[in-house]
Amino acid sequence: MSALFQPYTLKDVTLRNRIAIPPMCQYMAVDGRVNDWHQAHYTSLARGGAGLVIVEATAVAPEGRITPGCTGIWNDGLAQAFAPIVQAIKAAGSVPGIQIAHAGRKASANLPWEGDDHIAEGDPRGWQTIAPSALAYGKGLPKVPRAMTLDDIARVKQNFVDAAVRARDVGFEWLELHFAHGYLAQTFFSAHSNQRTDIYGGNAENRARFLLETLRAVRAVWPENLPLTVRFGVLEYDGRDEATLLESIGLVREFKKSGMDMISVSIGFTIPETSIPWGPAFLGPVAERVRREADVPVSSAWGFGTPEIAQRVVEQQQLDIVMVGRSHLANPHWPYFAAKELKVERPSWVLPAPYAHWLERY
Ligand SMILES: Cc1cc2nc3c(=O)[nH]c(=O)nc-3n(C[C@H](O)[C@H](O)[C@H](O)COP(=O)(O)O)c2cc1C
Repeated sequence: MSALFQPYTLKDVTLRNRIAIPPMCQYMAVDGRVNDWHQAHYTSLARGGAGLVIVEATAVAPEGRITPGCTGIWNDGLAQAFAPIVQAIKAAGSVPGIQIAHAGRKASANLPWEGDDHIAEGDPRGWQTIAPSALAYGKGLPKVPRAMTLDDIARVKQNFVDAAVRARDVGFEWLELHFAHGYLAQTFFSAHSNQRTDIYGGNAENRARFLLETLRAVRAVWPENLPLTVRFGVLEYDGRDEATLLESIGLVREFKKSGMDMISVSIGFTIPETSIPWGPAFLGPVAERVRREADVPVSSAWGFGTPEIAQRVVEQQQLDIVMVGRSHLANPHWPYFAAKELKVERPSWVLPAPYAHWLERY
């Protein structure tokens, strides 16, 4: 059996293979609530065969949405709206996960296909953003956030905890904290965006404080037998990558001590001026290093979505599970396609019977 199609167990959860759908915002929610679009989208991805479906970055507070179309889980009604999606993912034999998030200074943006920039000042669709320091990201996201008070910090941590409780109660079995991509948590850790002079800024220990406190508080309510993962940008590609990576690996070790079960290795995206070496599997060696040096299971995304690459990175133990995003948007049955390409025996779950009969027999 091919490495990619081996089951994978983390805590009490077993994935039927190493293929996962990474969180991908759909920007189709209204006032944070999921709807028919999300139902069809996630059901179709789960039926496609991936072992894990992680629902998109879902805001823990209204001001933590990236755009007005982002999903939210800041009250019980919004959480309950996920119930049929959770059920559909399970019914298709996949594991339902969710990424909970706060977008910080990158919030209050237009939809990607309507500009991907900050909603203009004065436009009633926008809102006040918050961040560790009153520093704008720049480029298309020029809005200056309000620097968070200690009360804001305590409130947002509690928002994450409340979101985790709701995710647990609605039946999600895999929880990911979005600490990456220049959103709130990542901007606490990055010295580019955190210039606080209190206990949440300054040295690496202080810049890590918000992330570790949030993680520990979430772990206290998220069931011990279910996976809790963190998505984190371990480097920025800003010219000081070795130093950042070393600092990040130190933090990943602390995540592990604080109850994290797997790290999803990603990019910081805290500053616009970077030289990211985009290309197939470019994060593979970085992920492998984090896996080895922090001694934690890892996943990663960005350019692993061809069958040979996905198979190779699992075989070479760079990744424990492979996130395949855009290839699944193009083809929700990517696992079937991959199994055919790799000429591996096709497990029964790889196609629903009404499709398999026609595709496999003739
Ligand atoms: C439409 C879209 C929405 C995304 N939304 C999120 C998100 O909600 N959370 C997140 O951590 N990453 C998000 N990403 C990044 C993906 O999780 C993933 O890292 C990226 O698509 C690269 O993987 P790929 O090369 O397999 O597509 C998004 C990507 C896309 C294409």
